[in-house]
Order: sequence, then structure tokens, then C-alpha cells
Amino acid sequence: MRVTLLIGGYVFDRVAQEGTELITEYVRTILEANKKGHEFAIVAGGGKLARDYIGIARSLGASKSVLDDIGILCTRLNAYLLISALGDKAYPHPPSNYRDYLSAFLSGKIVVCGGMSPGQSTDAVAALISEYLHSDLMIKMTSAEGVYDRHPKETGAKLIPKITYSHARKIISEYSYDPGTYELIDPIALKILERSNIPCRIVHGKDPKNILKAIEGRNIGTLVYGESR
Ligand code: UTP
Repeated sequence: MRVTLLIGGYVFDRVAQEGTELITEYVRTILEANKKGHEFAIVAGGGKLARDYIGIARSLGASKSVLDDIGILCTRLNAYLLISALGDKAYPHPPSNYRDYLSAFLSGKIVVCGGMSPGQSTDAVAALISEYLHSDLMIKMTSAEGVYDRHPKETGAKLIPKITYSHARKIISEYSYDPGTYELIDPIALKILERSNIPCRIVHGKDPKNILKAIEGRNIGTLVYGESR
């Protein structure tokens, strides 16, 4: 299976706080899945690093596009951490546009990128890469167990195991869409995934084994899918 793997900023936040164990565990899992014949295209999120820098620049009066540019640079720093952990299995740098990503992918190395352009999040990048590469599945590793029927911090919020793109869009219309604060999943990503009917499983990033479970089609997190699937 060809998988686009979005490793959310949450994972890199944990690494910055707790040390390299989690990222090493990610590499082990990715290589294990590789051995089973699964191919990965990887995108790294920005997390706290991006939010902190965006926050500082915002208070200095930067425009939203500049805030996004700063966020993109932070995602690339996180991409470099995963590239470092993958060693010679990885393409040596994060491509900064889709054309370069596709060329890098042809090298057979595992390609890890961060953001690409302002006005979106790495969700959209992962969705577009999924489209370019005809990925069978996008997996988003994040800080929640999946999609909830209301904001996960609200009491009584329930995890939704399966949701259509259009239903997901309704839920996220109540979420934030500002630099550093794309919550849940970016609406641009949903549009792209929907138009190409690419399923996306949103799972918790605390356990890299969730990647294998998602590939096996196990019922974890939330599967976002099209009506015709
Ligand atoms: P993220 O995709 O990581 O945003 O990019 P996020 O929603 O804050 O996700 P987590 O918390 O990391 O999982 C960080 C910021 O970088 C900018 C946006 O401002 C985004 O909020 N960005 C990222 C872009 O402008 N374009 C991109 O292609 C990617």
C-alpha cells in the first residue's frame, strides 16, 4: 500500500520535551511497514515550535502570510528531525514544492517535507501529495484519538469512528482557520481528499504502532471517507 503519513506537530513537541525515543519508535515502525511492502510519503507538522514563533511574529505585527511562512520554516525544521532519525533511508532534505517532492520520491528514498505554501496547513500538503502519488491512504498522526462530535475538550464529546468528507466539513466549520491554529483537519485538505476519493484515517500520534493498525484497516481513530467508498 502507498501511504501518505502526516506526522503532526504534537509528535515533535513530545520529542522536544521528552527526548528522541518516540521519533526512534516512529522510524522503527516505518521501516517495519516498509519491509512488509508499504511505501511512505511523509509530511511533518509544526506544533509548538510553529505556534511559538508565529505568536512572537504576530505580536510584532507580521502579516498572516508572513506568519504562515514562519510556520512553514518550523515544519521543515521538524522534517529535518525525522530525516536525521531515518539516516540514509531518507532523502536528505525536505522538498519545498510538489515538483521537487515527486522527483525526490522517484529516488526510492523516504521523502519527508514540511509545509509548502501560505494559507493552508500540512494537512493540505499531505492531501495534495496523496493525490499526486495516488496514495491508497492518508494517515494523520495527531494529538487526539480522532474526530469528535464536538470540540474534544467539551465534556461529553464522543469519538466518531467513521465520517464522510461532507460531514467532517460541517464539524470543522466551527473550528479556527488562522496561522498556527488549524484544528482537526484543514478544509482544503478535505476538499482535495474528497475530489480524489482518498480515505484518511486520523489517529493518535502517541503510538506509532497506530500506523500499522491504520494500514491493516483496523477500527482505530476516525476514518474520513467519500460516499462512494
Ligand atoms: P501545521 O500544519 O503543523 O499546522 O503547520 P497546525 O495545524 O498548527 O498543526 P500541528 O499542531 O503542527 O499538528 C504550522 C503552520 O505553518 C503554516 C500555517 O500557519 C500552519 O498553522 N503552514 C504550514 C502554511 O502556511 N502552509 C503549509 O503548507 C503548511
